Amino acid sequence: MIRHKSISKTIAIGLGAAIGVAAMASSAQALTDEGKLQRGGLLYDWYYKITEGDVPGDTHPAMPEAAGQTGKKTWRCVNCHGYSYTGDVGVKGIMGASGKSPADVIAILKNDTHKYTDAIFNQTDFESLGLFVSKGLIDVAGAKGDAAKGQGYFETICAVCHGKDGKKITDMPPVGAVVNELPDRALHRIRFSKPGVDMPGMSALPADVAIDIWEYTKTLPK
Ligand code: HEC
Ligand code: HEC
Repeated sequence: MIRHKSISKTIAIGLGAAIGVAAMASSAQALTDEGKLQRGGLLYDWYYKITEGDVPGDTHPAMPEAAGQTGKKTWRCVNCHGYSYTGDVGVKGIMGASGKSPADVIAILKNDTHKYTDAIFNQTDFESLGLFVSKGLIDVAGAKGDAAKGQGYFETICAVCHGKDGKKITDMPPVGAVVNELPDRALHRIRFSKPGVDMPGMSALPADVAIDIWEYTKTLPK
């Protein structure tokens, strides 16, 4: 009996410890500001590849008809505001909101123009988007990197997947082709990665690092 008790006590303690560990693990999973910034960049690009909430299927009411876009993709931030953040399809850019508090940005996302609800984005998603707009925007048109520095980064960080010539992943065009064809999108994706794809983002590093890498990738074979 005594033995039994002590065994169940041991089990109880073990369980308690396990629950404690689980609680620690879940609080450790709360995103840091770096993690949120990264997630915000991904959400801005193509949120429904990585969210679990509702995905509206109707055409976003703020999408200009002349853009000729319909359906769920019209809710992607990038489809209205662009990879240069200066606006697309006749919609204004978001550079004017750079430096606003994340809370102010979240209020914009919930306004009558945008209509993003808690069913679409959870609190972490809203905070991530808020942080991205507040702290993550750069002047893409004015970005000019140092290709020689970028080559060193490319060879140590990127070539393991893409190869030194950028051609190793065969289900996408060569990196040199993608970057020269859509440079703004490529810079955003070098900084934040591409939603739903196994590629690290560079957003925890200074933006200059990504810009140097981007400058170098423009010289890769197409
Ligand atoms: C269908 C088009 C559309 C989509 C999609 C869209 N927006 Fe907007 N956004 C607008 C329009 C139109 C305005 C200007 C009117 C307004 O502020 O209400 C605007 C304004 C803004 C502003 C304020 C800019 C300033 O200069 O103050 C921010 C910030 C912003 N949007 C962020 C986002 C983010 C982040 C997303 C994605 C979660 C997003 N928008 C998705 C159309 C869109
Ligand atoms: C762990 C592997 C991995 C690493 C490391 C990696 N990538 Fe990628 N990258 C991918 C995959 C996978 C894709 C998506 C391929 C697809 O769309 O089929 C991709 C896509 C891209 C794209 C295309 C984005 C677009 O516009 O669609 C570019 C550009 C790119 N990577 C550049 C880089 C650069 C520069 C680095 C280094 C900073 C890097 N990648 C590091 C795996 C990686």
